[in-house]
Amino acid sequence: MQTRPLGQSGIEASVVAIGTWVMGGWMWGGADEQDSINAVHAAIDEGISLLDTAPIYGFGHSEIVVGKAIKDRRDKVVLATKCGMVINAPGGRSVGRSTAAGPSENGHLEIKIYNHPESIRDEVELSLKRLQTDYIDLYQTHWQEEDTPIEETMGELVRLKEEGKIRAIGVCNATPGIMDRYRSVGPLDTDQEQYSMIHRKMEGGSFQGEDGLPDQMEYCAENNVAMLAYSPLVLGLLTGKVGPDREFPESDLRSKQKRFSRANRQKIADLLGQFQPVADKHGCTMAQLVIAWTVSQRGMTHALVGARTPEQARDNAGAGRIVLDDEDLGLMNGLVRSDATALEM
Ligand SMILES: NC(=O)c1ccc[n+]([C@@H]2O[C@H](COP(=O)([O-])OP(=O)(O)OC[C@H]3O[C@@H](n4cnc5c(N)ncnc54)[C@H](OP(=O)(O)O)[C@@H]3O)[C@@H](O)[C@H]2O)c1
Repeated sequence: MQTRPLGQSGIEASVVAIGTWVMGGWMWGGADEQDSINAVHAAIDEGISLLDTAPIYGFGHSEIVVGKAIKDRRDKVVLATKCGMVINAPGGRSVGRSTAAGPSENGHLEIKIYNHPESIRDEVELSLKRLQTDYIDLYQTHWQEEDTPIEETMGELVRLKEEGKIRAIGVCNATPGIMDRYRSVGPLDTDQEQYSMIHRKMEGGSFQGEDGLPDQMEYCAENNVAMLAYSPLVLGLLTGKVGPDREFPESDLRSKQKRFSRANRQKIADLLGQFQPVADKHGCTMAQLVIAWTVSQRGMTHALVGARTPEQARDNAGAGRIVLDDEDLGLMNGLVRSDATALEM
């Protein structure tokens, strides 16, 4: 398993990480707790050290399951979690209402993005408890909001680091301008963003028809900020295993996404089929090839890959041994670019 540093933190972490959003169950049609624990154990056994979770994943459930899974192997894990998605917060930006977190007076709990220092201090204690640990290796703001000055948020994160509760600081869903503000207060080690071979806004330019976007991957590379790609398999779509007949329950977010339409699944299958010679050359599965492609892009240092079962975790971990050469990358990039306009992103 290849490893790379998390920014300036001094922490080395596996290039393939296990993501645990699915283990929360919510938005993923449920999840089996024992499968989740077995998946984490399989990932660790295969050399994955970086594990990413968040309080909002299943409203604490993902962190609780992760806590159980790593209790007797905490030293083998670079544990990343997040703050800033808070139920019924007194400020911040609302992102929707849900009944899934439990009943409230009006029947719906409001989910808000809220990065206020006092709230972060409360959240870190709750995460430590659920995760059954006394330190978090990487603590990230999950989304960004305008109510709280970024400098105050970062000030609190720096204090938590000085107190030893967290070891490194990261952001998710940010921009270079936002990261500049975090970095004006203290070292920012990571940036977590949606990135896959068919979601490439982070590269800037006009790949997806939006001109004028900054090249965020270059920004991170130049400023020694590790970049963690989330959803690199596009929620399983790029594994080559989501056939046209697979049905998703209504409680699985994929049931409502255009990119999971049957027509798009067929187009993706056609694209992946053209990668087969490269997969054969490396003796790897399609999921492994796609993950290896992801961490071969300049600036993209780690791939966070969700796994529901030990089989998936083992498969994904195998990507950490594959090194693609310029010929492989050139061929794959050419195919993606020629097909991109036809795909639902
Ligand atoms: N910061 C943020 O805002 C943010 C947002 C999203 C995600 N994330 C993080 O990034 C992680 C990864 O992203 P993601 O979970 O959204 O998407 P992903 O990694 O692209 O896809 C994960 C899903 O694909 C399927 N899968 C994974 N490996 C497979 C394999 N080898 N063979 C067949 N199917 C496989 C599984 O779903 P099925 O078995 O159900 O098909 C799994 O739950 C998350 O877990 C989370 O930690 C962060």
